[in-house]
Amino acid sequence: MSTSIAAVLLLVVSCLHCACAVHRPKRFTSIFSFGDSYADTGNFVRLAAPLVPLVPFNNLPYGETFFGHPTGRASDGRIVLDFIADALGLPFVPPSLAKEQSFTEGVNFAVVGATALDLAFFLQQNITSIPPFNSSLSVQLGWFEELKPSLCNTTKGYTCMYAGCEDYMGKSLFFMGEFGGNDHVFFLAANKTVDQTRAYVPTIVNAITDGVERLIHHGAKSIVVPGILPTGCIPIMLTLFASPDPSDYDRYGCLEKFNGLARYHNALLRRQVQALRCKYPYTKIVLADYYRPILAFLKKPARFGFNSSSTLVACCGAGGGKYNYNPMAACGFPGATACADPSKAVSWDGIHLTESAYKDIAGTWLRGSFAKPPILSLAH
Ligand SMILES: *[C@@H]1O[C@H](CO)[C@@H](O)[C@H](O)[C@H]1NC(C)=O
Ligand SMILES: *[C@@H]1O[C@H](CO)[C@@H](O)[C@H](O)[C@H]1NC(C)=O
Ligand SMILES: *[C@@H]1O[C@H](CO)[C@@H](O)[C@H](O)[C@H]1NC(C)=O
Ligand SMILES: *[C@@H]1O[C@H](CO)[C@@H](O)[C@H](O)[C@H]1NC(C)=O
Ligand SMILES: *[C@@H]1O[C@H](CO)[C@@H](O)[C@H](O)[C@H]1NC(C)=O
Repeated sequence: MSTSIAAVLLLVVSCLHCACAVHRPKRFTSIFSFGDSYADTGNFVRLAAPLVPLVPFNNLPYGETFFGHPTGRASDGRIVLDFIADALGLPFVPPSLAKEQSFTEGVNFAVVGATALDLAFFLQQNITSIPPFNSSLSVQLGWFEELKPSLCNTTKGYTCMYAGCEDYMGKSLFFMGEFGGNDHVFFLAANKTVDQTRAYVPTIVNAITDGVERLIHHGAKSIVVPGILPTGCIPIMLTLFASPDPSDYDRYGCLEKFNGLARYHNALLRRQVQALRCKYPYTKIVLADYYRPILAFLKKPARFGFNSSSTLVACCGAGGGKYNYNPMAACGFPGATACADPSKAVSWDGIHLTESAYKDIAGTWLRGSFAKPPILSLAH
């Protein structure tokens, strides 16, 4: 009699114990993202709306293709992060400033305009054309560190309700970037030459890999680190830095010197990531590439369903020259309209990409042609 009661009790206790563990079959239970406008899912608009009379990302046609309304994403629809979250069975990663949301399945700290280097660094270099908000990589990491105690428990003896941090961080997928593109642009906009900007690249890349290391110290075991885009193929750069010399352009119509700068950044990032892999062999670090997939779009547009006569033309804009980019009337401002079929365009607003371009890039990162190792290889 007493033994059967004990057996039943044991059964009940072990079932309660199981119930805690089995409802999480997925490899990744949350996503944490840091970055700039290529990763922001709504932080910048929440920061800027009370202060700036017109925030372009808050206006249609931003969001027209997928959400049907602007969300703060700098695209007509979903970005790379959205497609990856979806493929991993997780919800779209909510912006950290969306206070009404639950962050247990992840949160996004990325902000439009964010830099890898701190604002103080730019000010020390006498560069004053800097982002309007203090939202650099280290500031975003500070926000993460503030939030962390509400997500998981560093004290031992945690319950089912709150996972221990070690376990929780180990089951999360982290995105450190994209970062660096804005740093380059702020130096160039301050009239630094490409060579002068090049001299800052090791400092920029170190800031990114220091950020990765800080995540590792928080228990991150799976981290995606994206490189920067081919800056010389972006309509805003083609417009602002147009050259009368045809030899400044490559055969796809991109400004070669800016692409060379981007390649240098990405090569240094690759080397630094490799050094981190050696130092932390139990952490998986995915190097993800925006550069080569975008070049592939320009090389063979038809293969990806893009219009071959407008690969360097912004879909959304108000006219404004060869690239449909006018800084005074950019997408989201009065007078700007979107092209008839954004899915046939690579560039959405002259800076950021269309949902269809992001979707393709996300596929290459998940399955691996432009990410090493493929993100999906970490997911089981
Ligand atoms: C910044 O400007 C100050 C004052 O003009 C000058 O003393 C300093 O050397 C400058 N710093 C750099 C890095 O150019
Ligand atoms: C940005 O924020 C950080 C952290 O809150 C702070 O230490 C830093 O002084 C701020 N920088 C500027 C330029 O406001
Ligand atoms: C962490 O665990 C302790 C002990 O189980 C508990 O008292 C505390 O509320 C937990 N904190 C969080 C944030 O879950
Ligand atoms: C950069 O150079 C241009 C042209 O010489 C000048 O108009 C502009 O004011 C300069 N900008 C800065 C930030 O020095
Ligand atoms: C391709 O782009 C060109 C130039 O913008 C445009 O005239 C043409 O109609 C587009 N073709 C398709 C199929 O969208």
